Amino acid sequence: MKATQEQLKIKFEKALVAAFGNDYAGVDPLLVLASNPKFGDYQSNVSLSLTKKLGQQPRAIAQQIVDNLDVSDLCKPPEIAGPGFINLKLKTEYLEAQLQAILDDPRLGVAPSKNPKGVIVDYPSPNIAKEMHVGHLRPAVIGDCLSRILEFAGHDVLRISHVGDWGTPFGMLIAFLEEAYPEALTTTENLDLGDLSSFYRQAKKRFDADEEFKKAATQAVVKLQAGDEKTLLAWKIVCQLSSRAYQVIYDLMGISPDIIERGESFYNALLPEVTQELEKLGLLVENQGAKCVFLEGFTNREGQPLPVIVQKSDGGYNYATTDLAAIRYRVHVDKAQRVIYPVDAGQSNHFAQVFQVGRRAGWITDDVEFIHAPFGLVLGEDGQKLKTRSGEAVRLQDLLDGAIAYARKDLEKRLEEDNRQETEEFINHAAQVVGISAIKYADLSQNRTSNYIFSYDKMLALKGNTAPYMLYAYVRTQGISREGNIAFEKLGANIKIVLQEETELTLAKSLLQLDEVIHEVEQDLLPNRLCEYLYQLSDKFNKFYENCPVLKSEEPIRTSRLALCNLTAKTLKLGLSLLGIQVLERM
Ligand code: ARG
Repeated sequence: MKATQEQLKIKFEKALVAAFGNDYAGVDPLLVLASNPKFGDYQSNVSLSLTKKLGQQPRAIAQQIVDNLDVSDLCKPPEIAGPGFINLKLKTEYLEAQLQAILDDPRLGVAPSKNPKGVIVDYPSPNIAKEMHVGHLRPAVIGDCLSRILEFAGHDVLRISHVGDWGTPFGMLIAFLEEAYPEALTTTENLDLGDLSSFYRQAKKRFDADEEFKKAATQAVVKLQAGDEKTLLAWKIVCQLSSRAYQVIYDLMGISPDIIERGESFYNALLPEVTQELEKLGLLVENQGAKCVFLEGFTNREGQPLPVIVQKSDGGYNYATTDLAAIRYRVHVDKAQRVIYPVDAGQSNHFAQVFQVGRRAGWITDDVEFIHAPFGLVLGEDGQKLKTRSGEAVRLQDLLDGAIAYARKDLEKRLEEDNRQETEEFINHAAQVVGISAIKYADLSQNRTSNYIFSYDKMLALKGNTAPYMLYAYVRTQGISREGNIAFEKLGANIKIVLQEETELTLAKSLLQLDEVIHEVEQDLLPNRLCEYLYQLSDKFNKFYENCPVLKSEEPIRTSRLALCNLTAKTLKLGLSLLGIQVLERM
């Protein structure tokens, strides 16, 4: 109910001026959603914050505000509580009117941002030539979700995958390709990334064991950088195969197809001019042959300032240089105003450092925000980084397949118990949706910055804050429509909403909070807020459904309740879609 909160804010500001004069025009009324329904729906703590300034008791201040506060169109008469809180309870008529207003609104009352921006979300940015593994789960899921939310909030979102497609590992791969599989250079048939991944391991083995091979690999990098045709071809083969393999995973995961692959190689040609520009600005310092920018606020153990190496002593560039070029490009060419990097927390220093250089170089100005949105690790049940038994990172494909298989087994068991017949197609689809949703939801429902334990049992549980629970709540709404033989879409918008029962009022308020939640996530980039909201909504819906007969009640209550079911369904569907989760009509 952002709109509500905004209206209340304006009313409070007026009251503050009326009570205490123009000096109080800019005072924040400190309005929050009440933590306990006992206190109403909103609470203002402003009186407590003004005691010093006004030299009065907070309760007396609260009284003067309330005397000047006209919220009668939205709220019941305000109450002063405790040391001087002002509690507000929304009027039923107001809630009814608000719900009525969103009945046929596809955005369900979520206003698009008044200040739409050009946003870049940098994800999932895997490194080419290796299969995607568990480490790529979070950037894909979080990046996709944030992009969807920001887009829905009205921003112009560019999804850019900053793939690691350049550098020393490629020398190694090219050298190995040329040595062991020269035929690969004439055909891309029969090569899939599964092969390439074992290929990567073999190449690495050769690289670590053989000095001659190491030289050939270094040579390949030089040739690649010099634009040697055959080497470039080998590089392209590796890149294409990787991209194709990524796409298979993205499709399975339901990651938006709008990702633009703009890898590190894209910035190659720009690296010399980036270096020159830093040099001209006087930011570069020679240090043992390398060109560095010495950072402010980053010191080594001896307390000396730390450098970011822009150009190595051999003339080569590195990860940081490429990110500097990307920063400059994103500001100057893409004209982005907000650039978000959902990347693991282990890279926090890297981003803090390149952002600092970007600021000092004048690329990042006050008009553009660069944000590292860090996330924690995916842990195994043992609390350690999730690994296979042989100690390697788990393949992302295996992780997804595991969840789908689990969901399938569970579904088949329930079908058998209930003696339900379903087609193979239904089972496949439902298992895939539930499995993938469970993985995504488990990831998104944690605070982004925390580590979490990956557990099929937990994420696929039918109860608790899980995707299956949420999907069930949706299925339940659809069940009502089927049972009553009433197509929700046919209800129309000319419905009189009548709220009588406590559980109806609670559900109504929750339905009107979507706007506020979306705008919170838009700011703090924490998808768990949306998960928590949808979980609360499902819970409130279930309570309403237990308490209030829908199909069996009399008109106009019956239609009003059907409309509440429909709004719940639409809110769940929209909210889940913003998490990248698809709903099921039955499961
Ligand atoms: N490829 C990097 C990795 O796998 C992540 C890149 C993140 N984006 C960036 N602009 N640095 O660690």
